[in-house]
Amino acid sequence: MHCVEEIKNGIYWVGCNDFRTELFERIFPLPQGVTYNTYFFDDEKTCLIDAMDKSCRDEFLEDVEYLLKGRKLDYFVIQHMEPDHASSALALLEKYPEAKIVGQPSTFKLFEQFFRHPMPDRYMTVNEGDQLKLGKHTLQFIKAPMVHWPEVIMTYDVTDHVLFSADAFGHFGTVGNVFADQADFEENYLDEARRYYVNIVGKYGPQVMNVLKKASKLPIDVICPLHGFVFRTPETIKYIVDKHLHWAQYVPEKKGVVIAFSSIYGNTERAACVLANKLSRRGVRDIRMYDVAKVHPSFVTAKAWEYSHLILAAPTYNLNLFLPMENFLHDLKTLMFQKRTIGIVACHSWASAAYKTMADYVENEFKCCEILEPTMDLKSSLRDDQECLMDELADKMAESIEQYPDPNTLI
Ligand code: FEO
Repeated sequence: MHCVEEIKNGIYWVGCNDFRTELFERIFPLPQGVTYNTYFFDDEKTCLIDAMDKSCRDEFLEDVEYLLKGRKLDYFVIQHMEPDHASSALALLEKYPEAKIVGQPSTFKLFEQFFRHPMPDRYMTVNEGDQLKLGKHTLQFIKAPMVHWPEVIMTYDVTDHVLFSADAFGHFGTVGNVFADQADFEENYLDEARRYYVNIVGKYGPQVMNVLKKASKLPIDVICPLHGFVFRTPETIKYIVDKHLHWAQYVPEKKGVVIAFSSIYGNTERAACVLANKLSRRGVRDIRMYDVAKVHPSFVTAKAWEYSHLILAAPTYNLNLFLPMENFLHDLKTLMFQKRTIGIVACHSWASAAYKTMADYVENEFKCCEILEPTMDLKSSLRDDQECLMDELADKMAESIEQYPDPNTLI
């Protein structure tokens, strides 16, 4: 039995659900698993685009053998060398010794670094715009540097207008269907698509925009990513491209606020909850609260990408910002988080460090972010005589959210 499906005119999806890996790249939790996709061309020449993680190697090799039906594999395109796709490449190439390996010079350099098994006679170097004729299908290669590795190429089937988009447009989460239009994508997959984008590709917004601009000049009927669903309808393609236009330009999808807090003994948490309640009573909807000591930062960074405003609330600990908040802010900085209005509530008992560190991130480490005044630096806990200041902060935050433009007008 096999996990393959024809997408269009002899182009096949070959997919594997990985339910077993707990942490993607040994850092990002996978509560709903992840998928790896490859694509096979059944044409005068046979061609495979990308391999799979070694956790799916046996299923992958079995499915490719099934699709080849005794033919040889002529071409194997490596769109990038990251091991979640390429770690079964050597096994494939040893099984099909006549297959040419298609990539950029830097692809082959990484191939040799990872596998220590040079195959120079088999390398076929391609550059921007180069074409490879398979028979009915002609492939054209599009360079996509730093989306999100330096040697990334995307592949475009000129004949059937299919874009093989490498990691772009992928998502976390296993799938039961092949196509996004067969699922309730927004309800069941959008959060994991955003979390995947933000944490895997989020740092490279300008590079993603460059590729989106190149792709916008091509007729595209199908998008085939390396993780998750295939997009084959105008509606689902527009939907996922629009989401990427938001994400890559650091433009929120929603007007609203994420409150990211951490708290040692509950006093900062209480202040964060009181502030949330004041915002709610001022009409702010869908307030999202996350304890960054408890929720993995990848989930909270993704929510910060989604909403227009952010509130940080954290205490001083050992003369530093409490580490869970420092980790979260470091992640945001690394991911090039930008274009947000941010409120700050700090707390300390005998020396204040949290406030200064949080403010420094917002003003000096994040791009195009501003601190919303007034800020607060509590002494051990929220006192009744500070209610006026917190009311003022809630007023200003609610007003700022209200006045924020419709995010869809900003992309
Ligand atoms: Fe899904 Fe960059 O690998």
